Amino acid sequence: MKEKLGSVEERELFFPPKEFCSKAVIQNPEIHELGQDREGFWNEQGKRLNWFEPWDTVFEWDYPFAKWYGGGKLNAAYNCLDRHLEGARRNKAALIFEGESGDRRVLTYQDLYREVSQFANLLKSLDVEKGDRVTIYMPMIPETVIAMLACARIGAAHCVVFGGFSAEALKDRIQDSQSKVVITTDGSYRRGNTIPLKANVDQALPSITCINNCVESVIVVKRTGQTVNMIEGRDIWYHEAIKNASIHCPAEPMEADDMLFILYTSGTTGKPKGVVHRVGGYMVGVSTTHEWIFDLKEEDVYWCTADVGWITGHSYLVYGPLSNGATIVLYEGAPDYPEKDRYWEIVEKNRVTILYTAPTAIRTFMKWGESYPLSKDISSLRLLGSVGEPINPEAWMWYYKHIGGERCPIVDTWWQTETGMIMMAPVPGITALKPGSCTKPFPGVHIEIVNPMGDPVPKGESGYLVIREPWPAMLKTVYGDDKRYADTYWSQFSGAYFTGDEAKWDDDGYFWVTGRVDDVINVSGHRIGTAEVEGALTDHPLVAEAACVGRTHEVKGQAVFAFVSLKEGISAYEGLINELKTHVVQKIGSLARPDDIFLSTELPKTRSGKIMRRLLKDIAEGREIGDTSTLADAAVLNFLKENMDAQK
Ligand code: PRX
Repeated sequence: MKEKLGSVEERELFFPPKEFCSKAVIQNPEIHELGQDREGFWNEQGKRLNWFEPWDTVFEWDYPFAKWYGGGKLNAAYNCLDRHLEGARRNKAALIFEGESGDRRVLTYQDLYREVSQFANLLKSLDVEKGDRVTIYMPMIPETVIAMLACARIGAAHCVVFGGFSAEALKDRIQDSQSKVVITTDGSYRRGNTIPLKANVDQALPSITCINNCVESVIVVKRTGQTVNMIEGRDIWYHEAIKNASIHCPAEPMEADDMLFILYTSGTTGKPKGVVHRVGGYMVGVSTTHEWIFDLKEEDVYWCTADVGWITGHSYLVYGPLSNGATIVLYEGAPDYPEKDRYWEIVEKNRVTILYTAPTAIRTFMKWGESYPLSKDISSLRLLGSVGEPINPEAWMWYYKHIGGERCPIVDTWWQTETGMIMMAPVPGITALKPGSCTKPFPGVHIEIVNPMGDPVPKGESGYLVIREPWPAMLKTVYGDDKRYADTYWSQFSGAYFTGDEAKWDDDGYFWVTGRVDDVINVSGHRIGTAEVEGALTDHPLVAEAACVGRTHEVKGQAVFAFVSLKEGISAYEGLINELKTHVVQKIGSLARPDDIFLSTELPKTRSGKIMRRLLKDIAEGREIGDTSTLADAAVLNFLKENMDAQK
């Protein structure tokens, strides 16, 4: 049902159908008010999990460090598996795997429990203990989820590294986490080709500086069957080692504040940050938000398309849904393999009811046209989700109409790697939707939009998005660097966590997140630090300086635009631009590949020598150039403007 209240886009409200509301998990319109008693609210939500020991305090706040559910003991894997084995859920499908080449596997909760316990015992046999780190560098296959839960079961922290990252990026992450074990596959499938993951591990490991016991073993899961080089005494085939592993492995009782995992994410410096999440608060946060925002019912088939290498995969493919006893779909491949209808075929085949994906995917589907979803029966869908970047109203409307058949509410969910859980989103049975707005903060979450002085802006205005009070799934720290945690997140605005995002608050109190205001680019929903790409470019022997900015891209949201100056005496030659792009791919991964590289003799700088990215962004976007009064040499700018077209 749609109620148009005015011609302004922000006034267009979409109410979920009455039929949906009357059956929704949350029907109480006062739920947000109840959440204002944050302590009481999160105390209540803590009870949704199984605890070995109850907590004494809901949270303690020693700014900027918080402790959630202090005194409580629990285990994340126990909450995702063991507690579902008592009743009818034991034989319910926990995980439906769709392989890229059409192979399929279904694991019940009992199956998943058994496989996780065996994997956990295998890790134990390799001396992995509570508190150790384990790097997981794998494609989207069941063993990846199993490996994560196996770590959680014995209290080791997993560090999942997205399978699209290069050997060098993998090396940095293993080095920082000092992982004792790496779990990988021989290779992964991508559109019928194979990517050599084990070979990347082999390339990464020799250059790692070990502080203690790092990478003693590599567990290799067979996926593609490609040839790999197994190093005696270090490398183990999973299928051989698992044969003798016992199917019983008790879940380790963990302090609520103990580390559950580390996930690396890009920031404003060249070095990715190891975001640490802990067991108790994280599990309460993801379990509550998953059930309420996705309106989860026992019979739902829930599909989150995110890769497990990102936070969405952690929170809303693994921990949130499995803690709630949901049936999840795990798809290995690309949306256009073998055909552009692959997603819709998976929805039809599995009668998927909830689909959670990213605006960049939706825009791609839009470009392909509605004939693909139309060719399949996707009428089982009843709720749609969006995450990763602002969804433009046109994409929202297309998703609503052509995928949701105008009957499915869309939950646009705003959050971050660091927040661990969704922070703003509709609660679909009670929130009217506005295309392009993530609506309002989740109950028990306190978010504000402030001006540069940190004062809240009035309704109708834009400002910086900050979080005022601690929330249960908040990051604990940056791995090994409490100072960086405090400086990065809690220093810009006194008393508040700064998200790095800009947002507007409309007259109805709805939030509209417009994007990052720091040096982070959001390419297809993936966070890329400009400093990281610049570091990769200046690592090339011919490059003197580099500056990267994000430019608007029709499908990806943003694309990397790099300005590069070459070393003295070096002239450009044919193929150099491609060579530089390939260099970035080798250093980071193909997700960071610049769309454009512009060669310039110099880059525009302030008198104190700081590159003026703001001006470069204006140039990249092809818009009028802003204030140039602090520019040291105006001639540089003229050169850039004049030569842009020539190099295109
Ligand atoms: O800029 C916001 C954008 O993605 C950033 C967080 O990126 P990451 O840590 O990789 O996590 C992505 C998945 C949670 C945010 O700072 N972002 C994420 N979701 C939205 C969004 N921007 C607008 N609307 C969203 N729904």
